[in-house]
Amino acid sequence: MHPITLTFLSQGDIIKTGLSLKETIAIIEEVLKEHGLKNIENPPKPGVHPHTDAFIHAMPAYFTRTKATGMKWISVFSSNPEKGLPAATGIIVLNDADTGFPIAVMDAAYITALRTAAVSAISAKHLADKNAETLGIAGAGIQGRYNLLFIKEVLTRLKVVKIFDRNENILKKFKDDYSNAFPFTIEICGSAEQAIRDADVVVTATGVLDKPIFKEAWVKTGALVLPVHSKGWEPGLLHHAKKFIVDDWQQFNTNMGLPGGYYHPLPPLYAELSDIVLGKKPGRESSSELIVNFNYGMAIHDIAMAAGVLRKAAALGIGQTLTLAEGALPHMLS
Ligand SMILES: NC(=O)c1ccc[n+]([C@@H]2O[C@H](COP(=O)([O-])OP(=O)(O)OC[C@H]3O[C@@H](n4cnc5c(N)ncnc54)[C@H](O)[C@@H]3O)[C@@H](O)[C@H]2O)c1
Repeated sequence: MHPITLTFLSQGDIIKTGLSLKETIAIIEEVLKEHGLKNIENPPKPGVHPHTDAFIHAMPAYFTRTKATGMKWISVFSSNPEKGLPAATGIIVLNDADTGFPIAVMDAAYITALRTAAVSAISAKHLADKNAETLGIAGAGIQGRYNLLFIKEVLTRLKVVKIFDRNENILKKFKDDYSNAFPFTIEICGSAEQAIRDADVVVTATGVLDKPIFKEAWVKTGALVLPVHSKGWEPGLLHHAKKFIVDDWQQFNTNMGLPGGYYHPLPPLYAELSDIVLGKKPGRESSSELIVNFNYGMAIHDIAMAAGVLRKAAALGIGQTLTLAEGALPHMLS
């Protein structure tokens, strides 16, 4: 038997492949179409919960058309940043769809950061008011930052970004990094309410929360609300939205092993995001619609991104080849 080898890509290797914002958005848009056409397997993610503010999720996926397949094993430990550690870490394993062999192992944190924010950008493209000028973000961590970097690509009339984080150091770093980087104003807010009120597009991206802290009354008529985290909004927001949209209904509806998940009982679903990307359902139809779009994150995004990164890495000669198995298993055991 030939040895079985695989490619290992560190976070630095993935960054070196130079995947751009536009390339990422294009991959994720294509993935959403495949989701809407049902050319995928993407079972709801099971997880374990070592702390109340933490989880580790297993996220397998398979594309029937492109044959990309594999799994992400991702942890989010929301108290890590207080210890100077990243909240999200993990690995992605890609498999060969013909043999099942693992063909690559790579960092998951960077791909997760990119693909999640790219989904928000695609949502904003279809669901935000065309004249949206104000983006409000609660949580200035990785997702808060990357959501800004991606959403600014589609909100071409953006004038003000209002940002709040309960950690003043993180907020200050956000301001230092971005204040002079863009042609819009970065406004530091003293509360989540201040960041959310009057915002045309609202992103909430705090750590894992155990109770609702974001109030429906703060959201303006006609806003698009994009919760990146799974809990934390008053449930009335979902019920009073004109359009309630999720990325994957089966996953949202069974989140945390409960029918209806955390927000049980759920309002009727208007559409999955992929239906809107495919044009099966209209996106925003008037500037007065309140639209709420939860994107809990799908494994298909990670696997498509990882497959794209692996192709780029191979072309650029980036990554290490590791031997997984040298030959056949021993025939005799001592
Ligand atoms: N939907 C998806 O696909 C997806 C993907 C990745 C991460 N997430 C979720 O997004 C969230 C953010 O992830 P991250 O990687 O950016 O984490 P992060 O730790 O880098 O950022 C979270 C930020 O929220 C701040 N925060 C925590 N509680 C707050 C509060 N009550 N008010 C204001 N700010 C508060 C923290 O200080 C921190 O800066 C997590 O809940 C994570 O599970 C979702």
